[in-house]
Amino acid sequence: MKVTVGVSGGIAAYKAAELVRALQRQALDVHVVMTEAATKFVQPLTFASLTGHKVITHMWSAEDNSDNLSSAIEHIDAAQTTEALVVAPATADILAKFAHGLADDFLSTLYLATTAPVIVAPAMNVNMWNHPATQANLETLGQRNVTIVPPGDGYLACGMQGSGRMTEIPAIVEAVLGVLNHRNDLQGQTVLITAGGTREALDPVRFLGNRSSGKMGYALAEAAERRGARVILISAPTALRPPANCELVPVVTTGEMRDAVLRRMDEANIIIKAAAVADYRPRIKSDQKMKRTGPLTVEFEPTEDILSEVAARKHPGQLIIGFAAETENVVAHGRDKLLRKGADAIVVNDVSREGVGFDSDRNAATFLTPHIALDLQEMSKRQLADRIFEEILTLRRPQSLVAE
Ligand code: CTP
Repeated sequence: MKVTVGVSGGIAAYKAAELVRALQRQALDVHVVMTEAATKFVQPLTFASLTGHKVITHMWSAEDNSDNLSSAIEHIDAAQTTEALVVAPATADILAKFAHGLADDFLSTLYLATTAPVIVAPAMNVNMWNHPATQANLETLGQRNVTIVPPGDGYLACGMQGSGRMTEIPAIVEAVLGVLNHRNDLQGQTVLITAGGTREALDPVRFLGNRSSGKMGYALAEAAERRGARVILISAPTALRPPANCELVPVVTTGEMRDAVLRRMDEANIIIKAAAVADYRPRIKSDQKMKRTGPLTVEFEPTEDILSEVAARKHPGQLIIGFAAETENVVAHGRDKLLRKGADAIVVNDVSREGVGFDSDRNAATFLTPHIALDLQEMSKRQLADRIFEEILTLRRPQSLVAE
């Protein structure tokens, strides 16, 4: 299987040689593309010797002229035949080119021309990494289903300390293998995902809400798209941009979310209820802004339990996955919820833990079925989304029934 390593011009370029070797040990046929800046750090000959293939460094090699189409065809072939493009190190410059669709060298042209999955391992100075421009570019790439293997902390070549060091080679290899293994395993499937926190109005300016950021649900939507699914994302308000190709259905209240889910659920093979749904709404919503007139008592009424309704109407072959946020007796409460609501599995978060859960980019969870409690240790929400899909897909396999 052919994969292409793109090397851009940072000091970590020397580590790309080690990456090439590590990928070859996985029986992958590795080809290398370098930017001109990368060739200042490492000679193309290093990669040509390691891979046994010519290293592409320019759009047009020196011997090309208008009568010679062989190089151009070779370049197009590189885009069409690779099974994955992994850019390591990915500089701030190459990330910006990818995010904005510039194609002024071979690597950025390859990025635009290939339909293969793309993985980037950024490496740069800490201030460049933290710059809003770089972060915005990464967000754009994430939405376009590029897999980002984030840099680690430590001493940087520039003498500063902080985030920006290219992550370790095994983590990049794992990301490449993950992408190759998952590629299109949700092809032909429709995944319906709910995300964000619903809001229930008290009056025209105030509402009862919750701390959900929507990040987990949006990460699931991105992962499902990356794996080839059609995605319907029914989202309560969030500050996030939805993945590029999903069908976004914006809602605000629990009632609106329920109507949208029931209207669309028949289209879905997999339904994931990652939204934090308001359990109560004010019994009466004031039409005018409420004035401060002393103590206030508000009467609430329960909202519909969407997950239970969906589970009760599910079709044979449909999988229904719930989420639960718990602060104590996480597995016991999760399992009780799983049985009570009739879902096929429930992903339980311990939201009392530091640094994970609400509004964080990281999460840890337990994947619960009636027979399995699988601990998913702390990782990024993007990685967790892929782990969750791996587990959901095992629910479909007959041998998992036997194992239970
Ligand atoms: N859920 C739902 N409709 C509701 C409440 C919750 O569909 N009215 C879904 C959530 O999207 C989630 C799962 O049910 O997938 C569990 O949500 P959670 O708030 O933890 O469960 P509750 O039933 O509200 O239980 P608790 O008593 O812990 O609040």
